Amino acid sequence: METQILQIDEQHINAEWIRQAGEIIKAGGLVAFPTETVYGLGGDALNPASAKKIYAAKGRPSDNPLIVHIYRIEDLHLLVKEIPEAARKLAAVFWPGPLTMIFEKSEAVPYETTGGLNTVAVRMPSNPVAAAFIREAGGYVAAPSANRSGRPSPTAAGYVAEDMRGRIEMILDGGDVEIGLESTIVDMTGEEPTILRPGSVTKEMLKDVLQSVSEDETMMSCSDGQAPKAPGMKYRHYAPKGDLTIVDGAERRVVDYINEQALRLREEGGKVGIIGTNATIADYRGDSCKSVGDRADEAAIARTLYRILREFDDEDVTVIFSESFTAAGLGQAIMNRLLKAAGHKVVHV
Ligand code: TXA
Ligand code: MG
Repeated sequence: METQILQIDEQHINAEWIRQAGEIIKAGGLVAFPTETVYGLGGDALNPASAKKIYAAKGRPSDNPLIVHIYRIEDLHLLVKEIPEAARKLAAVFWPGPLTMIFEKSEAVPYETTGGLNTVAVRMPSNPVAAAFIREAGGYVAAPSANRSGRPSPTAAGYVAEDMRGRIEMILDGGDVEIGLESTIVDMTGEEPTILRPGSVTKEMLKDVLQSVSEDETMMSCSDGQAPKAPGMKYRHYAPKGDLTIVDGAERRVVDYINEQALRLREEGGKVGIIGTNATIADYRGDSCKSVGDRADEAAIARTLYRILREFDDEDVTVIFSESFTAAGLGQAIMNRLLKAAGHKVVHV
């Protein structure tokens, strides 16, 4: 299959191209599109055959449910049995935006889309290209992140093309994404809203709107015994090819430890990648040293992390060391993804 790649300027959206993208979805095909978080791989959420195609293109197990993307709040009604009051409040504040909520699903949503679950995840993205595309596609677009299973989520269209060229009909190239990490997922079906995946809508922001919010215990831990509530979180999702270790401690000790390890591993023939920050990056002695930005600028770290992991894959780095980050606010999402990429391997120095 030839994959058409179209550059869309979000200030001047080409209506004809968006119409063509929408036609592909309505005909049961797949289109990758930009959102403010990461690129999505879209298919018709109400068509069981489209969900199957998405799983095949990603190389993803079909028990991993998809997020349904809408472009206006009133379209939520068709997808869900009921809208809890807390969900109305969150939607009023955070939609459109990087928040996904889980509801009891209606009959309209096929089990192929929800991976066999009776619940459905719904999100209304703020990216204007995404909104225009979802509208032209009929209003309900199922989309996981547009990476092949096991690779970091794509933060630019070039990364989507690396993973999906020849497997899908079209890629809408809307440039680099704004946030760089996937949406916050909150389960609205229980007694208390529960965060299943941290993102840029932080726990603190949710607590400002609702009295109480809890967190899935398995979210930041490596306990194998408990099954995470978001089925996708059980897969080792964000895994780089190189063996990644997070090193936590005082700045100088971290630099010294990583350099000692890098020296040893390079003598043994390894190729060492290092993830540092602007303050430390010049001090590292790896084969490839990359800064995620200023430690204080968490938005920049979030935007940069997946790109760096992909670059290390391209460079065939065999071992990676990363500095650790504060797990509060947006930092919680950053550390959640980094811990997953590392298979929870952390060294304290
Ligand atoms: O930012 C995002 O959310 C991006 C963009 C494209 O919107 N999408 C994304 O999709 O990250 P994906 O498929 O890579 O991750 C969706 C996560 C998975 O961990 C999945 O298990 C969980 O959402 N999920 C989906 N439906 C669920 C449900 N009904 N119950 C629990 N977890 C669910
Ligand atoms: Mg994903």
